[in-house]
Amino acid sequence: MNVNIKELGNDPEEIKNVQNFLFHMIKLEFGYDYVPEWHQDIVNMEDYYINPERNAFFVAYSESGEIIATIGLRAYDKNFEKFEGIYSNDTTSSIWRLFVDRRYRRCGLASKMFSVAENFAKDRDYKNIYLHTHRTLEGALQFWMKMGFIITLDEGDELETVHMEKFIQKLKISPQAGILTYAIKL
Ligand SMILES: CC(C)(COP(=O)(O)OP(=O)(O)OC[C@H]1O[C@@H](n2cnc3c(N)ncnc32)[C@H](O)[C@@H]1OP(=O)(O)O)[C@@H](O)C(=O)NCCC(=O)NCCS
Repeated sequence: MNVNIKELGNDPEEIKNVQNFLFHMIKLEFGYDYVPEWHQDIVNMEDYYINPERNAFFVAYSESGEIIATIGLRAYDKNFEKFEGIYSNDTTSSIWRLFVDRRYRRCGLASKMFSVAENFAKDRDYKNIYLHTHRTLEGALQFWMKMGFIITLDEGDELETVHMEKFIQKLKISPQAGILTYAIKL
């Protein structure tokens, strides 16, 4: 099946469809509905993902045009005490709202969504990506470790929250192949 991954634009109808998908997935995976203090980014996608130049939200569509996966990336905008002075919105991006429709799991779709978001982050010169997840979510921790994230802090709280990060800084390598070949020959 062909899957089309698009960056979400400022189209009210499309945003509404994405919001419906997200709240449907939240209910399915976590068992709760809209919670104002947790879901501001969903009800206000323009400010959190669409309008800021270094933020983005990606949506995967099936061949029939159905939304089957999402992922959001935005400059680090949290004030977790533990990361004060470590992360800044200039150098650190953060991942949010990765969901894959249950019918399309273990086909590499989340990996693809993450790679699109990671490339966006690299192009915007972020040095690392932050996220947090929960050990209670089936496969989530395994997935992020496979994507190259390491655990920075295990809260050991009721929600079994785990903070993770991945460095993505690009090396600037000058193509001086001749010199390199010569050095190796010596
Ligand atoms: C976690 C989630 C995003 C994975 O999506 P997916 O499209 O199935 O992931 P991929 O197919 O790209 O998986 C890549 C690798 O991650 C690991 N992985 C993914 N799901 C896994 C699971 N349920 N159990 C163990 N490992 C898993 C595997 O190593 C997998 O590679 P493999 O299939 O070759 O073994 C999806 O299960 C989901 O939407 N879960 C609910 C929401 C959620 O937990 N989001 C992330 C929380 S921050």
